[in-house]
Amino acid sequence: MQNYYKAYLREKAARDEVELLLEEKTSKLYALNVELEKKLNILQQQQLAVVQSEKMATLGTLSAGVAHEINNPLAYLTCNLETLAHYKDDINSYLSLMVNFSEGEVTEQQLIAQLTSLNEKVDTQELIEDLADIANDCQEGCGRISEIIKNLLDFAKPKQSDEAIFEIGEVLQHTTKLLENKLKQVTINILCADELMINGSKSSITQAFINIFVNAVHACDEAKEKGIIDHSKLTVTVEDSGHEYAILFKDNGVGIPENAIEHVFEPFYSTKPLGEGTGMGLAVVYGILTNHHGSISLSNNADGGVTTQVILPKAKL
Ligand SMILES: Nc1ncnc2c1ncn2[C@@H]1O[C@H](COP(=O)(O)OP(=O)(O)OP(=O)(O)O)[C@@H](O)[C@H]1O
Ligand SMILES: [Mg+2]
Repeated sequence: MQNYYKAYLREKAARDEVELLLEEKTSKLYALNVELEKKLNILQQQQLAVVQSEKMATLGTLSAGVAHEINNPLAYLTCNLETLAHYKDDINSYLSLMVNFSEGEVTEQQLIAQLTSLNEKVDTQELIEDLADIANDCQEGCGRISEIIKNLLDFAKPKQSDEAIFEIGEVLQHTTKLLENKLKQVTINILCADELMINGSKSSITQAFINIFVNAVHACDEAKEKGIIDHSKLTVTVEDSGHEYAILFKDNGVGIPENAIEHVFEPFYSTKPLGEGTGMGLAVVYGILTNHHGSISLSNNADGGVTTQVILPKAKL
């Protein structure tokens, strides 16, 4: 009996020790977990800050193009308004004459005489045609400017409010519009069916596509400078592979050295001359796609240039 009791005490002591140890470990684990959560929070905030600052940088490069785009319609709006100001006196003369006649201040004979002398001075046919043109041009110019501004605002919209289900094709079209100026010398083909829906932040995905497009354009520009190609081409194909979409951006640029491929997603990795690339473009794309449970990879094409492949899960409808 005594032996049993001793064994029991021994076993209890061992159990108490284990329980104590377990308790200690659990509280350590808990503290570690709290610490990890804090770190994750900080990291998430830092990533948001990087994405936001890259967005501002992208906005910076876009601004030059946008300024140019707005300058064109603005130039013809100004020119048309000047012509309109010039016509204003002639139009006023006709209108005042009519008002005076209708109020009985001018007789019919005076009206005919004054109209004849006005007609000799003013080419009314040209005036009528010009006025129609001016109205059309001004409407078109204002429409163009508001479209550019709408595109920019869509892009700059704060990330939080922008979680949605949207079409890949729509984002691709929107991206080409934003980059219209940069893509003028590029033949673009977008092969994307309608209603391929993905889920997430539209402005972030737009930013990812912008960075990929800009890289492709730079690679093509370099190939042109080196005389490798005459014309820049970019083909975007969207393939449906079951539960996800593969978006392939194929360019005919200079290509990429095989040993550089593994580094392209590292922050600040750039092969561009100092001051030309921050090397943050693909790092940000990587972050955005990871947030969307997607991925990205680059590979050289057999016929030259690079294909940047983006994988994104389909939206759960
Ligand atoms: N389509 C492409 N063709 C050839 N090389 C590419 C292509 N896309 C990316 N690269 C290579 O990957 C590197 C990193 O790209 P990333 O977009 O991160 O930075 P960057 O373009 O150099 O600078 P930033 O985008 O910040 O202006 C580029 O410097 C280039 O060497
Ligand atoms: Mg880049």
